[in-house]
Formats: sequence, structure tokens, C-alpha cells
Amino acid sequence: MGAGREVAISLDGVRDKNVMQLKKLNTALFPVRYNEKYYADALSSGELTKLAYYSDICVGSIACRLEKKEGGSFRVYIMTLGVLAPYRGLGIGTRLLNHVLDLCSKQNISEIYLHVQTNNEEAISFYKKFDFEITETIKNYYTNIDPPDCYVLLKTILQPQLKK
Ligand SMILES: CC(C)(COP(=O)(O)OP(=O)(O)OC[C@H]1O[C@@H](n2cnc3c(N)ncnc32)[C@H](O)[C@@H]1OP(=O)(O)O)[C@@H](O)C(=O)NCCC(=O)NCCS
Repeated sequence: MGAGREVAISLDGVRDKNVMQLKKLNTALFPVRYNEKYYADALSSGELTKLAYYSDICVGSIACRLEKKEGGSFRVYIMTLGVLAPYRGLGIGTRLLNHVLDLCSKQNISEIYLHVQTNNEEAISFYKKFDFEITETIKNYYTNIDPPDCYVLLKTILQPQLKK
């Protein structure tokens, strides 16, 4: 790429017509095969699931679902967040995560969390940069990958009216 040429990063929603892009990304990025419920949740999550484009190439995604907590409030679960290796370090993961964090803030959702394999140092340092904290270690969370253990990473989101 020539010096000084900015490549646009854009986000697009996931629909029946382009859900194949999400499937292709997941196959390339994750050692886990996602089931129909994952894709049904992604398709019904509205703005909480996005594909990221580098120029016109689909290179990353975030897929979340909204969960109702006891007591009636909601939290967001990040099912997957990934960027294809050659496109990492360009701010695309940040753009995807910030999109969801902004939505949480606007919709008064105060909690967001995910599971991450305990050896995934790259992802753990990425999430720590956004003030996610390890709140739990679950042994044998995964059935077909090694190590089978995961951390729960959780972030509490300040609501606009509570911010100074
Ligand atoms: C985690 C992931 C999504 C980050 O995406 P990305 O587009 O590279 O992230 P960004 O370019 O926005 O990086 C943001 C910050 O994360 C941190 N980070 C990103 N990659 C890192 C690495 N390899 N090592 C340490 N820190 C890293 C850096 O602090 C970086 O900030 P900086 O560029 O100012 O230094 C990407 O590494 C990925 O897809 N990994 C494989 C899939 C995965 O494990 N997903 C998480 C589990 S769901």
C-alpha cells in the first residue's frame, strides 16, 4: 500500500444473505465448530453482531447475544470476536469491540462477558486493554481442544448517567 493511503474499515450487519461470510471467518479463526443456535443467535442479535471489512474484503467479525439476568436486567455475551491474522494490529478488533461497547452504553446494558481459552494470551491482553477482568476459571469448558480450560472475562460498563 502506498504511503499515506488510508484504507477504510467499515462494519456491516449479518443477514441470511451474508451469514456465510461469518461461517467462513469462524472456520478460519477458531478451533471450535459453531452450531445452529450460534448462527440463530447471531442473526437475531441485530446490531450486536457485525462483519468488518478492510476496503471491500471481509476480514473480521464480532458475534454477541443478549442475555436476560435474574431480576430482569440484560447482559451481553460475546460469542466470538476475531480478525484474520494478516489484518491484525490495524485497529479492526478495537473497532468491532467499541461498536458493541457503545451499544451497551446506549442501551443501559451494564455487563459484558466472554469465555477465552486460558492459553490465548493475545486475546487476553486485548481484552485487558478494554478493562475486562478475569472473574473465573472454568476447568474442562471445552471438549475438543487443549487446554480445555477457559477464563471468564467480564467488564462492567458505566452507564451514561453515572459517568462523571
Ligand atoms: C484478539 C483480536 C480480535 C484482536 O484484533 P486486532 O484487530 O488485532 O486488534 P487491534 O488491532 O484493535 O489491537 C488493539 C490492541 O490489542 C492489543 N493486542 C492486539 N494484538 C495483540 C498481540 N498479538 N499481543 C498483545 N497485544 C495485542 C494491543 O494492545 C493493541 O493495541 P495497540 O495496537 O495500540 O498496541 C485478534 O488477535 C484475533 O482475532 N485473535 C484470534 C481470535 C481470538 O482469539 N479471539 C478472541 C476470543 S473470542
